[in-house]
Amino acid sequence: MAFDWFRKKPSTDSIDNGVKLITVAHPTSPTSEEFRTIRTNIHFMSVDHEIKTVAFTSAHQSEGKSTVTANVAVTWALEGKKVLFIDADMRRPTIHKTFGLSNRQGLTTILSSHDSQIRLDTFIQKSGIDNMSILTSGPIPPNPSELLSSERMNTFVQSVRNAYDIVVLDVPPILEVPDTQVLSAHLDGLVLVVREGKTRKDDVARTVDMLRLSKTNILGYVMNDHKGKNSGYGYGYGYGYTSDK
Ligand SMILES: Nc1ncnc2c1ncn2[C@@H]1O[C@H](COP(=O)(O)OP(=O)(O)OP(=O)(O)O)[C@@H](O)[C@H]1O
Ligand SMILES: [Mg+2]
Repeated sequence: MAFDWFRKKPSTDSIDNGVKLITVAHPTSPTSEEFRTIRTNIHFMSVDHEIKTVAFTSAHQSEGKSTVTANVAVTWALEGKKVLFIDADMRRPTIHKTFGLSNRQGLTTILSSHDSQIRLDTFIQKSGIDNMSILTSGPIPPNPSELLSSERMNTFVQSVRNAYDIVVLDVPPILEVPDTQVLSAHLDGLVLVVREGKTRKDDVARTVDMLRLSKTNILGYVMNDHKGKNSGYGYGYGYGYTSDK
């Protein structure tokens, strides 16, 4: 396209600096309360079907996946749950920056290793928050989306499922990296992040259709940047869970 250069470049803020952990900096703020409500809603969805592996995604990039995922993961850890937080967004990884960790090795190292005796715990790092362990993305490979949808990825997630109370994944956006669909279908549940004023309704519908096609268990959606609930920190979260979304 001749005018592609003219388009606004996506922000690299989260990739360069990590996301804002409001639940750590301002645990009693209304926004942190919103994150706890999202956590509680997911817990309620666990009644018939235990939810131990959960990912957050969106239709497109920069809709708030990493911000929402990291903060909800923190609320689980602060509640006393043993959490493994995995950066499975290899195209725009942020978790190592958010928690100030090395990303020399991580998920991609595990997935591309041919060593059957590989010790997973050597790749998992402490977050600095009690109960919360981190697996960073690792070096960005040439084929990130293929790794995500690989059988190896599925086997890996299942292998850590029982070692933690909850495994939370930050994954790429569905309409931009369709391979996310394959991974999502193997998880206990997926939450869709929708950014108010940015995500188009027809893109949400397309995303939901794709996830349904792969038989992903859609737990609900988080309305990010919800104008009616601005808390003073520049963030506001609405949430909602309906069976036909
Ligand atoms: N509610 C909000 N209010 C204001 N800024 C926000 C809000 N949510 C996210 N942001 C900002 O928007 C940018 C993108 O957020 P974030 O990195 O969480 O999105 P993402 O969907 O993970 O993006 P990517 O596609 O790059 O992975 C960041 O600069 C973040 O600080
Ligand atoms: Mg992100």
